[in-house]
Amino acid sequence: AGGFAGAWTFLYPLPARPMGVWDTQAAALFVGGLLVIGTGFLLLYLDAARAILARYGNLGRALGWPQLFGRDDGGAPPVAVVASTMVLIINSIGITVGAAILVMTLINLYVPAFDIDPLLAKNMTYFFGHVFINATIYMAVIAVYEILPRHTGRPWKSNKVVLAAWNASLIMVMTNYPHHLLMDFAMPEWVLVAGQVISYASGLPVLVVTVFGALTNVYRSGIRWDLTSGLLLLSMFGWGAGVIPAIIDATVVINQVMHNTMWVPGHFHTYLLLGMLPMVLGFMYFLSGGRRSDSDGGLDRIGFWVFAVAGLGFVLAFLAGGQAGAPRRYAEHLAQWLPYDRAGALFAALVLAATLVFVGRFLLRLGQAREPAA
Ligand code: HEM
Repeated sequence: AGGFAGAWTFLYPLPARPMGVWDTQAAALFVGGLLVIGTGFLLLYLDAARAILARYGNLGRALGWPQLFGRDDGGAPPVAVVASTMVLIINSIGITVGAAILVMTLINLYVPAFDIDPLLAKNMTYFFGHVFINATIYMAVIAVYEILPRHTGRPWKSNKVVLAAWNASLIMVMTNYPHHLLMDFAMPEWVLVAGQVISYASGLPVLVVTVFGALTNVYRSGIRWDLTSGLLLLSMFGWGAGVIPAIIDATVVINQVMHNTMWVPGHFHTYLLLGMLPMVLGFMYFLSGGRRSDSDGGLDRIGFWVFAVAGLGFVLAFLAGGQAGAPRRYAEHLAQWLPYDRAGALFAALVLAATLVFVGRFLLRLGQAREPAA
């Protein structure tokens, strides 16, 4: 209701300048709704912080600082704890900054005289959005750290390199966000240059450590292959490959050309569709199947390959469209851009079908899992 069409790009002063498309109440409902969702997440992180502090005493110990900066006595927390601590820190800060700009936007909707510096508003909005979406992958990757070793029989240790990577990412994920503002000429130039340099650096630590760690964990381990381990390994490919279009687009001179093109959805779908989602789906298979890998049927395996191949085709359709200059956020496309849309739509339908197989199997297995206890 109300026709609010700003979506996640609720950049000030857009909510208050609807050009007749939506009314103030609709904008306020959207902004207020986001605020409620953010508060829910904040409570989740506070609860996670409470549990981690109860066990490890302080956040520094949970991040493995004694072992990182002192002698590695092998007693560092599991990687899942280090990652959770990193995420709860960055997302609590990100959500708080996001909530602040949302509240300011709400006030501005009803008291237009309360105006906000638009550049500050954009920095706050993108700091929040960037940290929040990046954190999805940092949260989901815990599935790889915890589940893959069960399939390979090799533990995944928090050594100095792993700890250094996660601690470095903690800082870099919060400082590379200016790559969303590379087109904003009003930004101080040094911030944009720093944004590019930190973006280049930030792709590497956790990614290299995790992908390399996963490959060494699997290599000659006699890994038990099933949908769980397959999807988790696919996620390593998606995360690794996703860094390429990301870093290309974080380059100032390239971003000036690619910013409003399909390259950007190509970038984040590589991370989300081929990286984050397989982590979640792998976790789902693990949850419902446990160690019963024998129950993966032919349909699951077909689903896996359809998902992997069509997922890759889908993101490549986005990237190729971007490379050809097809814009994002335009209501209409020129005839020469349509082939990319059509290929993308076809691959998307296949990805959807494969995902339905996964979800259907998950639900069916849940039912079976409950039977013996009944
Ligand atoms: C090394 C890490 C990363 C780099 C260098 C990077 C770089 C970029 C750049 C340059 C843009 C486009 C800015 C623009 O022209 O509008 C962008 C947008 C985006 N990125 Fe990333 N990114 C990284 C990690 C991630 C991750 C891990 C995710 C999600 C899992 C993600 C999700 C997004 C999304 C959703 C957008 C679109 C935002 C919008 O609608 O404007 N990015 N990123």
